[in-house]
Amino acid sequence: MDRAAIDGDRGGMRQDEIWDAETAQRYDTPGTGMFAPEVLGPTVDRLAALAGRGRALEFAVGTGRVAVPLAERGVPVTGIELSVPMVTQLRTKADEATLPVVVGDMATATAPGDYTLVYLVYNTISNLLDQAAQVACFRNAARHLGPGGRFVIELWVPELRKLPPGQQATVWCAEPGYIGLDTYDVLRQQVVSHHFHFGEGREARLGRSPHRYIWPAELDLMGQLAGFELESRHADWSGAEFTAESRSHVSVYRLPG
Ligand SMILES: C[S@@+](CC[C@H](N)C(=O)[O-])C[C@H]1O[C@@H](n2cnc3c(N)ncnc32)[C@H](O)[C@@H]1O
Repeated sequence: MDRAAIDGDRGGMRQDEIWDAETAQRYDTPGTGMFAPEVLGPTVDRLAALAGRGRALEFAVGTGRVAVPLAERGVPVTGIELSVPMVTQLRTKADEATLPVVVGDMATATAPGDYTLVYLVYNTISNLLDQAAQVACFRNAARHLGPGGRFVIELWVPELRKLPPGQQATVWCAEPGYIGLDTYDVLRQQVVSHHFHFGEGREARLGRSPHRYIWPAELDLMGQLAGFELESRHADWSGAEFTAESRSHVSVYRLPG
């Protein structure tokens, strides 16, 4: 099934419709949520160490949540990003000379330069909705790297163990003002994330995004198809052990030296 057909089944939610100007303007939450120092600090520390003295390329760079502080750390960073509104938001924080961005699809677009590190964080490989595109994304990362180069992926572990027969949804976050709920289609390996933000009284805002979920073993096979070996897998950016209970992982793939 091609991407357009899948998007159609998902209520016409294409990536460029999801990552529009309104979403881009709301995306940054300086100091809190995904922008909290306890989230970003370990992320940037680990990526800076993995980049070494080389250059880093972020696939789906978004508004530069990670790329901007990584560049401020002294690592030269380039981005690839599909959404022009997200890049416009990034440009309020870093100019083209500081953080060049190629507008395009991370599965196919080329960014000029040589890199020691390509990284793709915050579950974003799952925004590619079919297996072929996800494998192409790995191959595109490999094309940008020299021998010994690394591709880092941060991805959630699909909550399949929470789905007894007949149940299609999991609530992965319920806190004051917010409920996050995923609906699974286990036959087609698709999931739609529903984000409910509650305001005063009856006020509520709903955001939805379609994904193709990936079990870690399938991710490793995608890496192998692109010539990578799994170098390490941890439960977070600080190096916590990855276990059967881990909800997410940071996986480092490496090309042979
Ligand atoms: C959850 S945001 C992550 C942004 C940034 N990496 C971060 O960690 O904050 C997902 C981003 O992926 C981008 N995106 C989705 N599909 C893409 C594709 N095929 N190629 C490039 N960017 C894509 C979206 O436009 C959006 O900016």
